[in-house]
Amino acid sequence: MKDLISTSLKYQQGQLWVLDQHQLPDQENWLECTSVEAMVDMIRKLQIRGAPLIGIGASLLLAHLAEQGCDTPALEQAAATLRDARPTAVNLMNCMDRMLAALAQHGVSALTGCAEGIFEEDIQLCLNMARNGAALIAPGARILTHCNTGSLATAGVGTAIGVIGEAHRQGKGIHVYVDETRPLLQGGRLTCWEMRQLQVPYTLICDSMAAMLMAQGKIDCILVGSDRIAANGDFANKVGTYSLAVNAQYHRVPFYVVAPYTTVDPQCPDGSQIPIEQRPAAEVQGVSGSFGKVRWSPQDAQVYNPAFDVTPAKLVTGWILDTEVLSPQQVEAGALSRL
Ligand code: MRU
Repeated sequence: MKDLISTSLKYQQGQLWVLDQHQLPDQENWLECTSVEAMVDMIRKLQIRGAPLIGIGASLLLAHLAEQGCDTPALEQAAATLRDARPTAVNLMNCMDRMLAALAQHGVSALTGCAEGIFEEDIQLCLNMARNGAALIAPGARILTHCNTGSLATAGVGTAIGVIGEAHRQGKGIHVYVDETRPLLQGGRLTCWEMRQLQVPYTLICDSMAAMLMAQGKIDCILVGSDRIAANGDFANKVGTYSLAVNAQYHRVPFYVVAPYTTVDPQCPDGSQIPIEQRPAAEVQGVSGSFGKVRWSPQDAQVYNPAFDVTPAKLVTGWILDTEVLSPQQVEAGALSRL
């Protein structure tokens, strides 16, 4: 496979490397990934994360295993195991299906080209979303975003952060409010890191401050990513997105979801059918791992920790895709199920 390099994933001289997103923002450590078990573990721990990026990482690993001499049954088993590593993000399933189709049609040697194609396509999809979305951003806009959707979550410039970066590059003079994003602080750690890299002026807030900012008239629009968009326009994203959308409607703030076609699941009729990943109690009871180790709740506190929530289509102002920006009327008329 040729060398492929992005902010958080690289294939170089026959080795696959993942930027350990647990260590950011303070340390940039790369981890070599050589097995399905290692990739599944990194996906579960969110060392590699973001719906598009995990699909791309899993595809590169499959191609790597093919180059190492794995046979067809072993590769099929590997794809099945990787497919199950994260239930909500449909990009992972789409990528595995694409790799398995290449394997079935053209054999083991086809996996290299297929994985390279998936990586390079994502870069272009991000650029297209960035261009489509930036056209909607008014000069001086104050934008609120949730979780992390940039070059740490894709092979390219990202989805919602791609739009933000492009609006900034165009000199629109934007300011970004970054939700810290509970429970793993993807906003506070990763989006702030990306805003700094892009030199976009930003302010970090706690998730629970967003409604107040909207009431104060400090937010002009909200941009978020997605792990899966159903045919009727309902979509799953990092938990906390739904309350942003409810608050946005109450305060009449435009609310956009930004995603490539690889995040749309036309087979999924509506949000009630999107599987939601449940995460360990310890993430809410405190923090552990590279963030340090602190528990603030009683050890036996009962916890509910869904990783994602579902935002109904009726709260969405527009779906910023790589091909176009869809309006509620277009989505209601079935535009997403035709993708
Ligand atoms: O659990 P995470 O950090 O992977 O959640 C990421 C998100 O919710 C993103 O908005 C989504 O994956 C789209 S990223 C381009």
